[in-house]
Amino acid sequence: MENESPIYSGKAKSLYRTANPGEMLMKFRDDITAFDGGKKDTLSGKGSRNAAVSSYFFRLLEKNGIRTHFLRMESENTMIVRALRMIPLEVIVRNIAAGSLVRNYPFKEGTVLKPPVIVIDFKDDTKHDPMLNDDIILALGVLDRASLTRLKQFARRINTVLSRDLKKKGIKLVDFKLEFGFAGEDILVGDEISMDSMRLWDEKTNESLDKDVYRFDKGDVLSTYRSVTGRILPCENDHRNT
Ligand code: CDP
Repeated sequence: MENESPIYSGKAKSLYRTANPGEMLMKFRDDITAFDGGKKDTLSGKGSRNAAVSSYFFRLLEKNGIRTHFLRMESENTMIVRALRMIPLEVIVRNIAAGSLVRNYPFKEGTVLKPPVIVIDFKDDTKHDPMLNDDIILALGVLDRASLTRLKQFARRINTVLSRDLKKKGIKLVDFKLEFGFAGEDILVGDEISMDSMRLWDEKTNESLDKDVYRFDKGDVLSTYRSVTGRILPCENDHRNT
């Protein structure tokens, strides 16, 4: 499979065809980037941690009645996913003010947002993923009103499920990004749910346990990813040294 060229290669994942047209192989690479690709590195073993955490969360969502593209793991850093017609939106759920919300608006970092704030960006790196509103989404014809409403309902339910699970592990879900796609008329969660796409803070110390460690040189990225993977997957001890 990997001798073939990917049909899509993003900043940290590549997508390959499989013999089954309804299934794709998603490879979590060891690449890590930040600031629209302005900062780039390769960290051996990072891809498999993100794959493990993503598969854990996809399974958790499925158990809670939320459909995802996840089908099965193929290896430590590859998963078989359902082929989706992707919706070019980044749906961000925020429980605590951080990141661009603090940079762009007068929020104090750490302010709890009740109810959680949903922000939807247009997925286009060349335009730096501009923030949308409902009218722009409808005018662009990306989604109709009913699908947009469903998307936001999914995002809130997913937030409830993930926040509750992480809380048990002493981790605050500050914010995270979701991507969705259509399988026929159904909307499924796609892409990944990992340390690259979430902000996670230790409940006691507020220490970052996610890609902010890489973005802002807050410490050893690999050992953070390794230890947070161990906390999220308590049954699967993360013995590897890489
Ligand atoms: O990361 P930054 O502060 O620039 O953006 P943000 O809007 O504060 O990001 C909110 C959350 O969405 C963070 O957990 C990001 O990691 C995630 N995100 C992402 O995974 N991919 C993007 N293109 C943008 C945000």
